[in-house]
Amino acid sequence: MNPRLGRLHAYPFERLARLKAGVVPPAGLAHIAMSIGEPQHPAPEFVIDVLRRSLDRLGSYPATAGLPALRTACAAWLQRRFGLAPGSVDPDSMVLPVNGTREGLFAFVQAMVDARGEALVAMPNPFYQIYEGAALLAGAEPYFLDTTAATHYLPDLDAVPESAWRRCQVLFLCSPGNPTGAVMSLPFLQHALQLAERYDFLIAADECYTELYLDEGSPPAGLLQACIACGHSRFERCVVFHSLSKRSSLPGLRSGFVAGDPRILARFLLYRTYHGSAMAIPTQLASIAAWDEDSHATVNRHLYQEKFARVLPILEPVMRVERPAGGFYLWPDVCGDDEQFARDLFRTQNITVLPGTYLARAGFPATGTGAGTGTGAGIGPNPGAGRVRISLVPDLAQCVEAAHRIRRFLTAR
Ligand SMILES: Cc1ncc(COP(=O)(O)O)c(C=O)c1O
Repeated sequence: MNPRLGRLHAYPFERLARLKAGVVPPAGLAHIAMSIGEPQHPAPEFVIDVLRRSLDRLGSYPATAGLPALRTACAAWLQRRFGLAPGSVDPDSMVLPVNGTREGLFAFVQAMVDARGEALVAMPNPFYQIYEGAALLAGAEPYFLDTTAATHYLPDLDAVPESAWRRCQVLFLCSPGNPTGAVMSLPFLQHALQLAERYDFLIAADECYTELYLDEGSPPAGLLQACIACGHSRFERCVVFHSLSKRSSLPGLRSGFVAGDPRILARFLLYRTYHGSAMAIPTQLASIAAWDEDSHATVNRHLYQEKFARVLPILEPVMRVERPAGGFYLWPDVCGDDEQFARDLFRTQNITVLPGTYLARAGFPATGTGAGTGTGAGIGPNPGAGRVRISLVPDLAQCVEAAHRIRRFLTAR
């Protein structure tokens, strides 16, 4: 068997199930699940309608590159969303469908990493778990860039030693971040681009939360925008990942896309052809409807904004919690052991949240002397320790109820 499988860590939800095993919550309180990042808002009916009406298209094999109309819808959405000039994203060479970004992010690393060298795949820490698993299975070492309050929850790119950048093949960025909700500014992204150019690595920007932001007037910038601002009109070394899961509350549709450097995407398409990851045609047709329509995404975003507006005033007086710029998570400092906090909250209030430790790795501080040697071997602290991730995915009434229970839990301690 592939020995690299042995390097994969237990997935956070497996660890959470172990943490909760044998703990009995109060029978009188309904369970509120805030651990998983699965959108719960109703799926847009017009998208489901298209899906239903196109089921007769299941009789033919889809092409890996997807329907031209899907790629055109994705390119048009990118141009609208990020204010890119019409025609700047070529649907034929700069867009490929993926079956959700999880699949796309994972496959991308398998296709791109050259494991013959001492490859590094750099990523934020805490991070979306797929980045690490993808790196390990591709034969690369994950290189963790801690994102803490001290770094404004963004990776400190300047703290990475040159020796690490030289080995870096792929840099993952995530904006808005999971779990921190931090958003990368255009200058930050431009700086990352300059480093990618200097050290010749690829940037994979996970922008699946880009439609979920708290200040209606400030949509997060995207990496393709940064490319254009730097004069890289062919998005050299860059790809961005987008998804309908969060934007359109369609996590079960498994629909996203990757866009960017056509040189990279041509190789990725070749990989995907063999990998067998074409998207079913009804899914593609439903996705076109979703990408073509923006108002449902605005309504969806407003629902999350309202949750933050209602929940934060309840929690702020009793907890060190900050208003994130984007996403749908709270990432509070629980001023103690995060596993114990999660277990006690479940035991006393029947609320499930995710311990921050599970989303991050103890490694070396980016500025530490161990940097450049590969994964940290527990030299630095786990940057998720002492925090929990609270997903505001239940409906508004449940989120407010949960906030009151968390407050009761904290004041009773
Ligand atoms: C940061 C991040 N990236 C990617 C994904 C995967 O989303 P999907 O595969 O549904 O597009 C998630 C899902 O939770 C996520 O949080």
